[in-house]
Order: sequence, then C-alpha cells, then structure tokens
Amino acid sequence: MKFISQNFGFSSLRFPLLLFFALFLDLTRAQVYTPDNVCAANPPNPLKLSGPFSTCAASVKNILGQKHPDQNKKTPDILATYNYPFETHNVTTKDGYILTVYRITGSPNSKKKSNGPKQAVYVNHGLGAASDGWNFQPGNRNLPFKLADAGYEVWLSNCRGTTYSLGHTSKNANTDITYWDFSFHEMGIYDVPAVTDKILSESKTKKIFYVGHSMGTTQYFISLSEVAGMNDKIAAGFLLAPIAYIGHLNSPLRVAFQLLAPYPLYQAATLALMGKIQSAAQYRKQLNLSGGDVCDLTATKCGVCDNLVFLLFGYDASQMNNTELPNILAKFPNNIGVKWLSHYAQNIVSCEFKQYDYGPALNMKTYGSSKPPAYDLQKITAPTYFFYGQQDNLGPPNDVQITAKKMKSGTLKGNYKVANKNFNHVDFITGKDADKLIYNRILREMKRYKS
Ligand SMILES: *[C@@H]1O[C@H](CO)[C@@H](O)[C@H](O)[C@H]1NC(C)=O
Ligand SMILES: *[C@@H]1O[C@H](CO)[C@@H](O)[C@H](O)[C@H]1NC(C)=O
Ligand SMILES: *[C@@H]1O[C@H](CO)[C@@H](O)[C@H](O)[C@H]1NC(C)=O
Repeated sequence: MKFISQNFGFSSLRFPLLLFFALFLDLTRAQVYTPDNVCAANPPNPLKLSGPFSTCAASVKNILGQKHPDQNKKTPDILATYNYPFETHNVTTKDGYILTVYRITGSPNSKKKSNGPKQAVYVNHGLGAASDGWNFQPGNRNLPFKLADAGYEVWLSNCRGTTYSLGHTSKNANTDITYWDFSFHEMGIYDVPAVTDKILSESKTKKIFYVGHSMGTTQYFISLSEVAGMNDKIAAGFLLAPIAYIGHLNSPLRVAFQLLAPYPLYQAATLALMGKIQSAAQYRKQLNLSGGDVCDLTATKCGVCDNLVFLLFGYDASQMNNTELPNILAKFPNNIGVKWLSHYAQNIVSCEFKQYDYGPALNMKTYGSSKPPAYDLQKITAPTYFFYGQQDNLGPPNDVQITAKKMKSGTLKGNYKVANKNFNHVDFITGKDADKLIYNRILREMKRYKS
C-alpha cells in the first residue's frame, strides 16, 4: 500500500517534469558540432528521455528513506571506512596558500609488499569537486582505491579554495577577499609544482604520474607549459575530460559563465559573493539540512536531480547510479572561486586558452602587453594521454581535438574517445563503468613507465 502511494506521487510528477525539461532541450536533434573555425557553442547534445524515469524509479524503489553510508563523510573518514592507510600532509605554496593533501600509503587488498619506493600518483580533482569526489564507484572500483590496490601510492589533492584547503600564511579565506584573487592559473603555477615537489620528496622517486579531471587537466596544461622543470618531474599525465580550448562548450552554464567574463563584472560579482560560490555543504548547514536530503525523495531524485546533472554536464542516464546520487550531491559542488569561472568564461568567449584578461590598461601593467599571453602547449613534453566523452558538453570532442592539435607532435601518446557513446563530463568520476572504460586503461598505460 505504501508502495503504491509512493508510485502515485512519482507518476503524477513525471509529466510536468518531462515537459519542463523538454522545453529546455531540443529532443529531436541529431548530434552535430559547430565547425572548428566558428567560435560559438555546439548545438545542444541529443537527449533520450526514455531511460531515466524507468531505470531511476526501479533503482530507487529499494532505498527509499535510506541514507547513503558515505554521504556525510569527508576524505579521511572515507579512507578509514574502507581501511586504506593514509597520511595527511600540509603543503604551503610559494604564495602562501596551505593545501591539505592525503597520501594513501597502502591497500587492504594489495598482497604486494615491495621494499623499494612505490611509484606515486598525483590525483587532482575538477571544478566544484575536492578529494572526496573520487569515491562514487562502490567497492574498490574507484580510481584512488584501484591505484592503491595495484601497488601505487596515491596523493589526493585539494586545490586552494576548496573546503579542505582554506589555509594561508597571512590571509583569512572567510574575511579577506584578496584570498580569492586567483584562478586555475595560480593553481597551475603554484599548487601543482608545490604538491609535485612534496610527493617527490616524500616518495623518494624521480618522477610521478599525474591524473587530472576537468580543471585538474587545465592546471596540468598551465603548469607544464609555464613552470620550468615540471615536464621532467612527470612520468606521464592522464587527462580525463581535458579542458583547455573550450570555445564550443554547450552546457547551459555557458550563459551564466559569460556574464562573468568582463573584468568589471567579475569584480562586482566577487565583491557580492566574497570571492566564491560557497559549497553546497555550507548552504545546507545554513538551511539545517543534512547532505543528500535534497534528493532523498523518489520523485525529486528521478525527475530533478538526475536531469539537473544531465542538463549541466551532458545526458547520460545509462551511467548514472541513482543509489549514489545522494552521495554525489552531498559533495558537489565544493567551493568555486568567482575568478575561476570568470577565467573560463573568457576562454569560452575568445575560443583561446590564455591568461586572465584584465582589460587593456591593466593587462599592460600585468603582462606588458594589451592582451593576455596565451598558454603555449608546445612547451609540454611529458607523455600525455587524453580521455574524452562523446556527450561531454563542457569538454566536447571538437574542442578536445583543437587542444590535441596544439600539443607538440609526439607528446600526446593516447587520445582516447571513451568507448560509450553517452559518456558525459561527470561520468569520468561518477559513471558506473568508469573503472572498465577508463581506470583500467590508465593502469595498463602506467605499466609502460616503470621507474
Ligand atoms: C550503485 O551504487 C550502490 C551504492 O554504492 C552500489 O551498491 C551498486 O553496486 C552500484 N551499482 C552499480 C551498477 O554500480
Ligand atoms: C594543516 O594546516 C591547518 C591550517 O591550515 C592546520 O589546522 C592543521 O593542523 C595542519 N595539519 C597538519 C598535519 O600539519
Ligand atoms: C536542525 O534540525 C535538527 C533535526 O533535524 C534539530 O534537532 C535542530 O534543532 C535544528 N537546528 C536548528 C538551528 O534549527
């Protein structure tokens, strides 16, 4: 009886929700891309609405009212829960930011007891995420646990500005707006080198592997092209959803992003928001909701929460594990600095990949030229691998190929289209089959680079 009434509530919401999303998205269009030489958004990705309601309803029927066991856990709790031994390290960057980095030193599933130093992997998250955003595949199917099980030591970073890394030698992130005056440029030129050097000195190895997702790939491009010596410290880089040239980005986020592109509008927004869009966890605290509550109800979870994810990041019901959705939504988004969005917005509008644009006068003062300098991907020499999704509307295939063409010949050792035609931007970390489609391949490729 209880069951019937739940189903009734759900079905009655189904039609209006369907209509709501149909209004926003073109349901009939076949997949097409804007030509490379035209600087404009790709048309919306094709959408199939047959999947989500039936599959979602079936999978959430059994878990109504239950909370996901990991939804309120932070990275140390998660690692402890699954018995992965770890250390916590603070890394201070040249410009005073204090980052918290977790080092997984072993695995409950690894029989290997090697005496020599372990090869280390630097795992760097994307925009809106933090180190706790790598734990959405059950068991040990997520990337950090798979790496640890295979005998690597794993370093989970937290970029400056995320809730894990708000420390600074002199600035207070809550009260000092100048703390927030950075974008992924500074993460690339300060955070990545500082964390890399920390890993090298602790692991006593000569080179490390780098795995980045989304903004974690942007930082890789910037760090290796701008910072002397970085290429020699990286055995190989694995970039999931590479984000450099993004002129064809076609998420509805594009509209919001673009408002922040001009420097004066960024200045106004950052003043109004005290530098950042605060994490969802912080908002929930203010509203006295626990993590995941927002999506606990069948109807909202199947009609709103999953479709919201698809709307923003690309449509892929087949890879969405609805049981994990409360856990995912409890962790996303973490803090997002206004300048990060503003900087991405400028690269969307210009179809270039360059430093922050302050306007001609201030550019002249900052860079000695009226336009900001472009990042030169030819300077990247470390072996690099791309993995991109066919339904990724933040890092669409045509933009990934533009980025690939800018790389020095011979550097890009693999340029892999994920073998699933629905793969979207967040599937790289949340997708049901991310292990089979991507992580296993990363592990295979890493074996080529024995230290
Ligand atoms: C979905 O997530 C739940 C909870 O973590 C897990 O038990 C289940 O195995 C997952 N399903 C798939 C297909 O990955
Ligand atoms: C890391 O720095 C934070 C302040 O930013 C401090 O609270 C914490 O105790 C430090 N942890 C370690 C292990 O040094
Ligand atoms: C928050 O909610 C809990 C129970 O859900 C309640 O016990 C507590 O009093 C609430 N706190 C505030 C400040 O409203």
